[in-house]
Amino acid sequence: MARTAMSLATRGEPARRPIHSLDEAREIWLLEFRRVRAETESRAAQLSAEDQIVQSMADASPAKWHRAHVTWFFEQFLLVPHDPSYKIFDERFPFLFNSYYVAVGPRHARPRRGLITRPNGEDVAAYRAHVDAAVERLIGQVPAADAERVFAVVEIGLHHEQQHQELLITDILHAFAQNPTDPTYDPNWQPPRAAQGPRGYVEVPAGIYAIGHDEGGFCFDNETPLHDELIPHVRIARYLVTNGEWLEFIAAGGYTTPSLWLSDGWTTVQADYWQAPGYWREKDDTWHVMTLGGLKPVDPAGPVQHVSYYEADAFARFASKHLPSEAEWEVAARANVMVDAFGKVWQWTRSAYLPYPGYRAAEGALGEYNGKFMVSQMVLRGSSLATPEGHTRVSYRNFFYPQSRWQFSGLRLAEFE
Ligand SMILES: [Fe+2]
Repeated sequence: MARTAMSLATRGEPARRPIHSLDEAREIWLLEFRRVRAETESRAAQLSAEDQIVQSMADASPAKWHRAHVTWFFEQFLLVPHDPSYKIFDERFPFLFNSYYVAVGPRHARPRRGLITRPNGEDVAAYRAHVDAAVERLIGQVPAADAERVFAVVEIGLHHEQQHQELLITDILHAFAQNPTDPTYDPNWQPPRAAQGPRGYVEVPAGIYAIGHDEGGFCFDNETPLHDELIPHVRIARYLVTNGEWLEFIAAGGYTTPSLWLSDGWTTVQADYWQAPGYWREKDDTWHVMTLGGLKPVDPAGPVQHVSYYEADAFARFASKHLPSEAEWEVAARANVMVDAFGKVWQWTRSAYLPYPGYRAAEGALGEYNGKFMVSQMVLRGSSLATPEGHTRVSYRNFFYPQSRWQFSGLRLAEFE
């Protein structure tokens, strides 16, 4: 997807255990490569060929494009530089499936990805198989002197592919939400339920805290450098904001009260006729929401999803509360005092997506992964129901534009003295 890069200087192994030999490292990376690549295909397998070419808006990409783009990533950044015998599968593909890497060369316009009906699905499947075989060969044969560098690129390629696995889901949900027949991605899908327990707020004492990645293992470069931040005394909501609370916001005129909104947010509310979170619609006088399981009644107990930063900010003002900063969120997450910090919805913070002190993007094209997006976006923390297994970290920084709401994005509140 269009975001994260990693620091090639921060490496780990998927199993998070010491690697005793090159052969053992080859085996670990081979298994991890197969696991992650198979997950992409598993997510796409629920979609028809027609489903896989649709692009419902410029921000969303077709599933077929996701499957090809993550494959191009391995071809471009792993095989071409590290395997002298590798032959490009199709000379037209780098133009079609490069996302935003200017240093790599020209590319097809993002809003027109849905027009690429050919190469077709079988061509993309053959592309994946060709690259899979070459990567597996490289992992099995890389000389010891190059192994660390090669495995580091395999690793970022897999984390990159996992980001696209989440996008594949959010993008097809957006497409299905435009379809009057309310298609179902997964008939067995169940909406997330909020965990039960005492609600209220948890205390985060004022202090200077280390923020950023320090656990060992993989991280993206935007999670570094580890640095100190001064945190005020803050109380952070134990629970996510629920649909029931959002219904109260709607009933109280939340979407029709300009004083609750940032100026850009109010402009967006009016321009896009927002009256509720994304994918909500009234049917038989009841709010329903388009989900991966089709159109469902809104569950008051579930965490609100598909809200933008503008909406999260307006809700916080309505509740006479605030959004936590990303550092406050991270301190609370490390203290393990929040319920549903991970696995339900990404949580908007009041922090702009900026470089940490001393941050430098990596040299070369991979340096474009994260650093060049550090303006005009807001940070979300945690992870969502669509985040693949093994892709969650307490220091993970997700980021989207403040009007974006097609991700599984929600919020939790904070309050100060
Ligand atoms: Fe990407």
